[in-house]
Amino acid sequence: MNKQNDRILVFDSGLGGLSVLRELIRIMPGERYLYLGDSRNAPYGTRPTDEVRNLTFRAIEEEMEQGVKALVVACNTATTAAIEELRQRYPDKIVIGVEPALKLAAERCPGGRIVVMATGVTLREPKFCALMDRFSATSRIVPLPCPGLVEFVESGQLDTPELRAHLMELLRPVLPGGIDAIVLGCTHFPFLKPVIQSLVGGQAEILDGAHGTAQQTRRRLKAEGLIRMAQEGEVELRNSLGKAEILSLSAKLLEVRL
Ligand code: DGL
Repeated sequence: MNKQNDRILVFDSGLGGLSVLRELIRIMPGERYLYLGDSRNAPYGTRPTDEVRNLTFRAIEEEMEQGVKALVVACNTATTAAIEELRQRYPDKIVIGVEPALKLAAERCPGGRIVVMATGVTLREPKFCALMDRFSATSRIVPLPCPGLVEFVESGQLDTPELRAHLMELLRPVLPGGIDAIVLGCTHFPFLKPVIQSLVGGQAEILDGAHGTAQQTRRRLKAEGLIRMAQEGEVELRNSLGKAEILSLSAKLLEVRL
């Protein structure tokens, strides 16, 4: 069997990872993708870290046994909780995680005030603390846990009065002092970028890690000679809720223009 034709498994706690899948497809359109969203158990980001780790293992294990050449954990929360163990469990596969794009923000806004919007799990674990330490000498970094936001995306609400009110409540405490950049440290949040931008004003640059993750995936596939040389790829969307509605919302989000 030609390993290049094996699929790339893209996983998230729900629909957020579609923001990463979209970028993967854009830069590697000839690949075969399987997207797995665990919306039945979303949100992950308000759970104990051990629980997130176990949910992640359980969600992907069956597919990892079936000819998958790479796993992209398109979820900051699951990456935080499980990436080291995933790499140990699947030493023969390429395993890519995501992390808040703090490096990019620090480069773009030297000395700036950078707000990092993410889940509680992502912001409280040592992985993020280490990342923050790397850049806190040169940037003012403000972590902002955002409970409740994932649920809006999971229900397809990308711009409603309720969403705006909820976002305003989250952002209000960090607005004084000005914001140079916002890092979207949860893969659900890029779908809310236009609303967030309209609430914080045009001077704040809003960044996410989708492009960096897609590039890193391509680099690793290339290094191992695993890029699929085909004109056309394929995408299968799956969700643990198993309902037609969630699959059609997934397909819609994949096409959203931001
Ligand atoms: N999309 C996930 C992330 O990037 C988290 C969503 C959740 O809390 O389930 O962190």
